[in-house]
Amino acid sequence: MRHLIATAALALLATTTTMNAMEKKIIRISTEQTDLVLQVAENGRLYQSYLGEKLLNEADLQELSWDVHAASDGSVTRRGWEVYSGSGNEEYFEPALAVTHNDGNPSTWLYYVSSSSHAVEGGTQTDIVLRDDKYPVEVTLHYVAYPKENVIKTWSDISHQEKKPLVLSTYASTMLYFNRPSYYLTEFSSDWAKEAQMSSQQLQFGKKVIDTKLGSRAAMHTHPFFIVGLNQPAHEQQGEVLMGTLAWTGNFRFIFEVDNVGNLRVIPGINPYASAYKLKRGEVFTTPEFIFTLSTNGTGQGSRNLQAWARNYQLKDGKGSRLTLLNNWENTGFNFNQDILAKLMKEAKDLGVDMFLLDDGWFGNKYPRKDDRAGLGDWEVTHDKLPGGIRALTEAAQEAGVKFGLWIEPEMVNPKSELFEKHPEWVIHYPNRDTYYYRNQLVLDLSNPVVQDYVYGIVDKLLTENPDIAYFKWDCNSPITNIYSPYLKEEQGQLYIDHVRGVYNVLKRVKENYPNVPMMLCSGGGARCDYEALKYFTEFWCSDNTDPVERIYIQWGFSQFFPAKAMCAHVTSWNRAASVKFRTDVASMCKLGFDMGLKDLSADDLLYCQRAVANWKRLQTVILDGTQYRLVSPYESNHMAVSYVSADCSKAVLFAYDIHPRYQEKLQTVRLQGLDPHKRYKVEEINLMPDSKSSLSANGKVFSGDYLMKVGINVFTFHSMQSRVVEFTEVE
Ligand code: DGJ
Repeated sequence: MRHLIATAALALLATTTTMNAMEKKIIRISTEQTDLVLQVAENGRLYQSYLGEKLLNEADLQELSWDVHAASDGSVTRRGWEVYSGSGNEEYFEPALAVTHNDGNPSTWLYYVSSSSHAVEGGTQTDIVLRDDKYPVEVTLHYVAYPKENVIKTWSDISHQEKKPLVLSTYASTMLYFNRPSYYLTEFSSDWAKEAQMSSQQLQFGKKVIDTKLGSRAAMHTHPFFIVGLNQPAHEQQGEVLMGTLAWTGNFRFIFEVDNVGNLRVIPGINPYASAYKLKRGEVFTTPEFIFTLSTNGTGQGSRNLQAWARNYQLKDGKGSRLTLLNNWENTGFNFNQDILAKLMKEAKDLGVDMFLLDDGWFGNKYPRKDDRAGLGDWEVTHDKLPGGIRALTEAAQEAGVKFGLWIEPEMVNPKSELFEKHPEWVIHYPNRDTYYYRNQLVLDLSNPVVQDYVYGIVDKLLTENPDIAYFKWDCNSPITNIYSPYLKEEQGQLYIDHVRGVYNVLKRVKENYPNVPMMLCSGGGARCDYEALKYFTEFWCSDNTDPVERIYIQWGFSQFFPAKAMCAHVTSWNRAASVKFRTDVASMCKLGFDMGLKDLSADDLLYCQRAVANWKRLQTVILDGTQYRLVSPYESNHMAVSYVSADCSKAVLFAYDIHPRYQEKLQTVRLQGLDPHKRYKVEEINLMPDSKSSLSANGKVFSGDYLMKVGINVFTFHSMQSRVVEFTEVE
């Protein structure tokens, strides 16, 4: 059988080679701005011959060739730039794929077999089949190019027909190559309350690896996205940048390798750490999607590409509206009862938000959830705390005139729970070592289908019994701490991967059966923020750090890859030195919510918040669906400014913040972007404190879009933690 397949592959190879004698076999994957050109070489293998700004002339594609290597003796060998490089060949650098075959041979050489393309929503999908000539191993590369948004999404399928399982030790989603004078990587490091911190460095010879092996709360220390400045450090408004992100809610790895001749290869994929994967005959191993854009106008344009793409095709309900809310976590913690919650629901209504969101602490009876040490896993309402159950809460919400949302953390268990007592075998932990706990909890073994059913059942039961639950906040506070699955037994190499697949199985069922329930993805703050999870979630919680100063940086970081619509921001009591206005204005540049005791607010502050909520709702479509322009970076100044412009350019909103300006520093004028130069706009400062007037010199005046973009307006001050929200409205 193996022989037959190999012969078939060789026959196809011969066809390809003959065709190449006349004309090179070229596969062009293009958007309106970018070309990724692949080419079958005389040896029958597939190479990347170009990735860059779109080429004007189709004929020029024939002129492209992949990298060649000149040896010191003058001989030239073709090597490098193989699109999905296998191992054990003439390639000296990091491969995409490493396989151990049934006979122990560790080499894989992939030859081009066929390619085809077809239309998909928003773009064109190209599928390219590659096959080893000696072993029945096949890889299909998939690319979806979205022309309008200038985004390419790519992933790979690996399969084989060998008798016994073969072992995959490396299985990247794709490989991309660049030949530029220099490369500068921007990474996004993270920790609890310190998410999306941007830092940059020049890449030199060798490898830089960004990876995580935390399993469930996988992005706690680094996020699954990066920026590479090509030829110069990444800039907001100019220069060529690659911006890439892996759609995987588990361990990921990005390798950036600069080789001996100064070329860069970028290899995104699942982190194969402790995950030698035994692939069965006929099974298809599908890698996560890697999504990237190549912008020649800096990161600002790159972000706009990704934000538009996400809203159009990837984010759950990407085109829909979002619910403003009042959460109780920062306000009450675990200390609440039915009366307290009913009062908060009335406060939510008074504030003008759409929903009240009940956080952690509502469940568990044998082991009530009165702190984070007990109860996770037992999703029954605590009867003596909430005697009327969820029903009484949804009714109270209805009475107050708001929707009701609920916090759950269904993938986790406290050892102090009835679930753990009944099913210790459902939990990831060692049979023979001391258990290490993170936040006093453990992770349920989602590689086990029975556990998947249980987790899905939590949501299903809650929604069946309480169809008025309008929203879930789905938390995940622990990484996988004791990496052993009682279910997988001797196949532990599958755990990190099968666990994430199990999470997706559950989420798919939730989405299929309850398509209209919006959900917030949360992971002890923003430790889950990837585009596979966001197929199932309408938004994510960026950080538990709601100090508005810190949030300016955190939201700036996440905005590189996500639309404001996906980013939850709440007004809380973190940093009481900042005014309520400043805190609210910082949250208003994303999906707005509140999490504070409103009775502690002064009458002015409360009135301010009510008006700010009303303004946000009125401008929601501009902020969440408009085009975002990051105008002034907090990393480069003591201020920050960002604006949103509606699709028809008739409306814009500018958010401007003074963080901690220096004494008499030079205040820069903010020049708008994305307006219509020929339109005239009335400038109006909104979100003013009651009884105060705007001190903005431009307030109430009318300017052309051209003036606003070329000359700009003065919105910054010398005062710490001040903010301005300015509305621009087209006038006749
Ligand atoms: C971590 C989340 O980030 C918080 O917002 C809150 O929901 C707590 N978990 C509850 O335990």
